[in-house]
Amino acid sequence: MINSGLSQSNFVLCFPIIPGVCGQVIKLHRRRLGSAGLQGYQIISAINAGSVTVIKKQFKDISLFACFAQDMATGSSSQRIGVVGYGHIGQYLVEKILKDGSAFGLTLAFVWNRNPNKLKGSVPAELILGDLTSFADRRCDVIIEVCHPQIVKDFGLRFLSQSHFLVGSPSALSDPDLNQKLRQAALQYERTLYIPNGALWGGQDIQRMNDNGKLKALFIRMSKHPSCFRLTGDVLSDWTEGEGRRVLFRGSVAELCPIAPNNVNTMAAAALAAGTLGFAGVQGEIVSDTALSDYHVVEVEVSGPDGFSVHTVRRNPAKLGAVTGNATYDSFWNSLLFCKGHGGRVYLC
Ligand SMILES: NC(=O)c1ccc[n+]([C@@H]2O[C@H](COP(=O)([O-])OP(=O)(O)OC[C@H]3O[C@@H](n4cnc5c(N)ncnc54)[C@H](O)[C@@H]3O)[C@@H](O)[C@H]2O)c1
Repeated sequence: MINSGLSQSNFVLCFPIIPGVCGQVIKLHRRRLGSAGLQGYQIISAINAGSVTVIKKQFKDISLFACFAQDMATGSSSQRIGVVGYGHIGQYLVEKILKDGSAFGLTLAFVWNRNPNKLKGSVPAELILGDLTSFADRRCDVIIEVCHPQIVKDFGLRFLSQSHFLVGSPSALSDPDLNQKLRQAALQYERTLYIPNGALWGGQDIQRMNDNGKLKALFIRMSKHPSCFRLTGDVLSDWTEGEGRRVLFRGSVAELCPIAPNNVNTMAAAALAAGTLGFAGVQGEIVSDTALSDYHVVEVEVSGPDGFSVHTVRRNPAKLGAVTGNATYDSFWNSLLFCKGHGGRVYLC
């Protein structure tokens, strides 16, 4: 929409009139911000249906500005976000919404954590939700789950009856009954069940091939340092530093999800993108490798008709022992920015 290199001077941005929404004209000043001589943008005023509002809002980052301008153009007001879970990803998202949320049109409606003491001192008291069953009182546009598949099972249907729902632990959907019920709820309440890409590369391409009937097979291998795995069995309890590479499990994603529910969300997202193959049809492999002390590796192999194939290898820097790779935090934030409502369906974002 906006090219940051387009103009070195002031300019006026005109948005087309969208049916049901007034046309907007936003006057912009490009000016120096701060002593570092950074170029930035300042919105001076917005003209809506002939009346002028003076705004004087500054942005150093073109993407922050673009989001704000887009919201103004579509007349959308701030989206209220409920965050369920205050582990690594939850803390990152809460901090980011509190710091940058207003520029992106996001407001924090509540934060819930199994242990509320963890929230005290970090989250404003009025935003702490003590009892998750009262989440509806906070009137959220989007609820994001970033704690455990069990919460998706216990609350997913209720969340969808009130809000769009971004499922951070999509391995929960390997349960065919829950999967079906969540899809039905999305349809019934016309809310979107969002699945974040997480560490999956090319999810939208997989989904497109799936929807066009061209997807023949999908395989995902996730390799990590043994300290990064959280397995339900004791397959890895005897690992020793320097032992090298060990294939822990190879089989369908449906079989893998109960074994490593916290580690295979990327595979679960892929299985949802590849709906025609499903959890039973998409194949996965988890590999423990003591050489991978600095990053996780996610390999995706896609097969289509007439020998078509794509093989991607993603190296995601990660701290030793971390379930979540560093780049996945940004990926979650970008996914959240997508959750504007896409109808009563499952949507990979
Ligand atoms: N979609 C993806 O690609 C992707 C990527 C990384 C992590 N994840 C998933 O997102 C979730 C959060 O990740 P994280 O890195 O923040 O994990 P984390 O371990 O840092 O935090 C999890 C939080 O949830 C709480 N919790 C754990 N089990 C719970 C339960 N049964 N009921 C209620 N609360 C519970 C913990 O106390 C903790 O506060 C995990 O389920 C993880 O598997 C998904």
